[in-house]
Amino acid sequence: MKALNTLTPPALSRLIPFHLQVPVYRSLTGSLKYIGKALNLIIRPPEIFAGPGASLLLCDAIAGTGIQRILLVTDAMLVKLGLIQPLVDRLSARGLAVTVYDGVLPDPAVEQIEQAVQLQKHHHCQAVLAVGGGSSMDCGKVVAARATNDKAIWDMTGFFKVSKAPLPIYCIPTTAGTGSEASVGAVVSDPANQRKLPVIDHKLVPRMAALDGKLMTGLPRNGTAATGMDAMTHAVEAYIGRIAIPESNQLAEEAVKLISEHLPRVLANGQDVDSRQAMSWAAYRAGLAMNRGGLGYVHGIAHNLGAYYHIPHGWANAMVLPYILDYSKESCIPQLARLAKIAGLDKDTQNEDVLADRFIAHIRSLNALCGVPDKIEDLKEKDIPGIARAALKEAHLSYAVPRYMDQKTCEGILRKMMV
Ligand SMILES: NC(=O)c1ccc[n+]([C@@H]2O[C@H](COP(=O)([O-])OP(=O)(O)OC[C@H]3O[C@@H](n4cnc5c(N)ncnc54)[C@H](O)[C@@H]3O)[C@@H](O)[C@H]2O)c1
Ligand SMILES: [Fe+2]
Repeated sequence: MKALNTLTPPALSRLIPFHLQVPVYRSLTGSLKYIGKALNLIIRPPEIFAGPGASLLLCDAIAGTGIQRILLVTDAMLVKLGLIQPLVDRLSARGLAVTVYDGVLPDPAVEQIEQAVQLQKHHHCQAVLAVGGGSSMDCGKVVAARATNDKAIWDMTGFFKVSKAPLPIYCIPTTAGTGSEASVGAVVSDPANQRKLPVIDHKLVPRMAALDGKLMTGLPRNGTAATGMDAMTHAVEAYIGRIAIPESNQLAEEAVKLISEHLPRVLANGQDVDSRQAMSWAAYRAGLAMNRGGLGYVHGIAHNLGAYYHIPHGWANAMVLPYILDYSKESCIPQLARLAKIAGLDKDTQNEDVLADRFIAHIRSLNALCGVPDKIEDLKEKDIPGIARAALKEAHLSYAVPRYMDQKTCEGILRKMMV
């Protein structure tokens, strides 16, 4: 894998034309199917506690493992909103010493991870409980890995570079969401170099997680919209990718159904705990689907829009998703048509081509409901070549996309997104 990793798209593209590169990418990412099959045998999804109040039950379960000192990783906003103290109280009441690191910022960077590792070492914490959105969960996951691996975080980015088992990881998502509570990944930002890189390793799957919709009722509308569309993007990219399997497809279909029904409800009423709970199940299922089916160009581009302009991850995905579906459609009509049926868009036709278009229109109308614009105000012409290059590099080495594109095509799609 290391040798293949040196075949970066820019290096390849200087040597051979794009249509001859595609088979290399296809076989590279196609091999993930077999790695995924092998991993299926060893990845154990987290033990799940679900329902309003489940986060406290998770605290009891952590205490039951015999752990005595735990690092709680979160962000200052959640402390301020009062979501953290009840968890600290419950863990303390069960006899655990809790150290809180609340310095996580959106798109966590190495600096925060290292600060949290210092705290972990100072207090001899034996496990990590990450509470928050994807930023806190990803930060907590990498802290747990860094605590046991004496190597730089950048040496852990990529596939399967977390050599030693991390500290036990527990997650409580407060957005629905990234699916980080289920996933093999964690994304680390490098603001100085405008990069966001994933650490992907089955050892990062949390041991236990709580899906507690009640914790999500205070999430503002924009955050609800962005994170809901992030979960939708995970489900769709996992579903249309070439390494999808029946199990991941079923999870993705369930996620698309739940999001299509419940995202409009939580947008209309953020206090609707039942729909918040349904969305947290959807995000979790989409996270599991993404573990097997992988992601695609939408995430490749969105990660780089995040790195260049700090556009929130879900918001960037939502804006990019319809454009990439328009481009990919000809290679995944049956999958998009099935998703249209799942979303209940097949009342008067079974024509797959029509249904595929309807699913893409469904994504556009969900975006409109969310208030997600269809043009990206921050996007600048001078950045387009760099964003496209980085997005293709990420996607071609990591994702089994249904329809490949070259640099010029990707730049053209990005230009369509400009105001
Ligand atoms: N590991 C994975 O598999 C995976 C998948 C997708 C995205 N990600 C990463 O996750 C990060 C994004 O995570 P996110 O979209 O969940 O947002 P986030 O964690 O960055 O949180 C965004 C904001 O929402 C606030 N917030 C969170 N929960 C809240 C609640 N219940 N009430 C009020 N405010 C709340 C936070 O305080 C923060 O200010 C990105 O860095 C992205 O790259 C990871
Ligand atoms: Fe995502």
